[in-house]
Amino acid sequence: MNKALRKAVIAGNWKMNKNRKEAAELIEALKPIAADKTCGVVICVPFTNLETAMRLTEGTNIEVGAENVHFEKSGAFTGEISADMLTEMGVKYVIIGHSERRQYFGETDETVCKRTMAALEAGMTVILCVGETLEERELGITEEIVAKQVKVALSQACEKCVKNVIIAYEPVWAIGTGKTATAEQAEEVCAFIRKTVAGMFGQAAADGMTIQYGGSMNEKNCAELLAKENIDGGLIGGASLVAEKFGVLLEEASK
Ligand code: PGA
Repeated sequence: MNKALRKAVIAGNWKMNKNRKEAAELIEALKPIAADKTCGVVICVPFTNLETAMRLTEGTNIEVGAENVHFEKSGAFTGEISADMLTEMGVKYVIIGHSERRQYFGETDETVCKRTMAALEAGMTVILCVGETLEERELGITEEIVAKQVKVALSQACEKCVKNVIIAYEPVWAIGTGKTATAEQAEEVCAFIRKTVAGMFGQAAADGMTIQYGGSMNEKNCAELLAKENIDGGLIGGASLVAEKFGVLLEEASK
């Protein structure tokens, strides 16, 4: 049983929500709620809110993340942000390979790999998202898909830098749909991901890795999910936009 050795991390994924005023209000509401929690607390916010989030979380236990990063250091990549631009602001976390990026913006396992390496080389912690679609689950190829996503994304990573990788298992059919995977389904795939990581980087790396579940995880269903041996926290969309709801998740992950 290695769960106790791993740090549970609850990360909010705000997606394309909250203007600066709303972001400031949410962060101020979160500060006292998060203050006494022992789990890792991360809020991944739109680029336009990073400055506000960095300023308002200074001296607190709330860490700030971006929702994407480009793989080149600089250059003619209109609309993109580099890892150095993020670290210059003090941003330590970044979500990479979210299914919405894969579905709507042409993200592939190969670009996920490049972004992951750029972020790791800049010293950031990557929240790497993987997960199957409903069609893939029904075809019985969930493990095949998830294994490929993990293997390609981390194909260039070394055993040492993989310490800065959190994997978020997010079945696409559960994201924003209100349909959560059952705790058993989530545990099964998270355990499989850990086994895949062990095959690539050794058992110690796998045992130490934080593996989150994401997909309609909320204040009501989190206890059952977080109790599972291989689920070390969550990547939270909808429920991260309301301080009290996010607080319940933090509380549960701190037990
Ligand atoms: P959800 O989103 O909690 O709203 O389903 C999770 C995510 O997309 O990371």
